[in-house]
Amino acid sequence: MRLSEKVIIVTGAASGMGKAMAELFAAEGARVVVSDIHGDGATQVAETITKSGGVALAMETNVSDVAAVQHLIDHTLTTYGKLDILVNNAGIMDGMEGVADITDERWDQVFAINTTAVMRTMRLTVPIFQKQGHGVILNNISIGGLNGARAGAAYTASKHAVVGLTKNTAYLYANEGIRCNGIAPGAVETNIGQSMTNINDFGMGRTMLGMGLNPRTAQPEEIAKLALFLVSEESSFVNGAIVVADGGWSAY
Ligand SMILES: NC(=O)c1ccc[n+]([C@@H]2O[C@H](COP(=O)([O-])OP(=O)(O)OC[C@H]3O[C@@H](n4cnc5c(N)ncnc54)[C@H](O)[C@@H]3O)[C@@H](O)[C@H]2O)c1
Repeated sequence: MRLSEKVIIVTGAASGMGKAMAELFAAEGARVVVSDIHGDGATQVAETITKSGGVALAMETNVSDVAAVQHLIDHTLTTYGKLDILVNNAGIMDGMEGVADITDERWDQVFAINTTAVMRTMRLTVPIFQKQGHGVILNNISIGGLNGARAGAAYTASKHAVVGLTKNTAYLYANEGIRCNGIAPGAVETNIGQSMTNINDFGMGRTMLGMGLNPRTAQPEEIAKLALFLVSEESSFVNGAIVVADGGWSAY
C-alpha cells in the first residue's frame, strides 16, 4: 500500500474528484479526513470508505470560513495525532463571464473558495510540516489555471493565482522536506456544473469554441490516480510541478 498510515485531508471530498481521491487514498492505507461544505455528502463518502475496511473521518467544512478551516486542522491533529498530506480540491466555477461582465460578488466568491482558502489551509499546514520535517501539498487547479479560454475571468484568474501559490510554496520550503504540486485537469465528469449560475452567453459561446478541440472528457477516478502518485513517495523528486491531465486537449 502506497499511503500506509498517512493522514490526509481532502477538501471538497463529497463529490467528483475529491470523492474519488478520498476513496483511492483510503484503499492505499491512508486515514482520510473527508471534508466538504456538504456534511451529509462527506459522511456518506466516509461511511463508504469505512464499510470497505478503510479509515475515514467526515468533517463539514466551508473552506472560505477561517474558523472552520482552523477547526478542520485542529480536529485532524486531535483525532489522528498528525497530518502528512493536504489536498486542496474544493472549488467552484464561475458563470463564464468575461471581465466586462463580472460582478464584484462573483469575483469575491470564486476567489474566496478557489484561491484564498487554498492560501489559508497552506498557511496553517506548512508550520505543522516544518515542525515534523515532512509534508505534501497537492492543489487541484485546472487547465483554466494555465490557459485563457476554459472558463470565465474569475475562475481563470483564481486558478492562475493558485499556480503561483503552488510554485512559491514549493520553492520556499523545498529544503524542509515539504513538497507542493498542482494538477491541471481538463474536462472531468463531476458535479461542478451545479456551481455555474447565471451563465453568460457571450463568455460561454467563446469558450465553447475550445471544447470542439477537446478529444474527450475524463472520469474522476482517472485524476485520482494522478493525485495518488503526486501525494505518495513515488513522486519524491516532483516539487513545484503543475501536471496537466487533459487527454491532449491543450496539446493542440
Ligand atoms: N470538473 C472539471 O472539469 C474540472 C476541471 C479542472 C479542475 N477542476 C477543479 O477540480 C476541483 C474539484 O471539482 P469537481 O469537478 O470534482 O467538482 P464537484 O462539484 O463534483 O466537487 C467539488 C466539491 O467541492 C465542494 N465545495 C464547494 N464549495 C466548497 C466550500 N466553500 N467549502 C468546502 N467544499 C466546497 C462541493 O460541495 C463539492 O463536493 C475544483 O477545484 C475544480 O475547480 C474541475
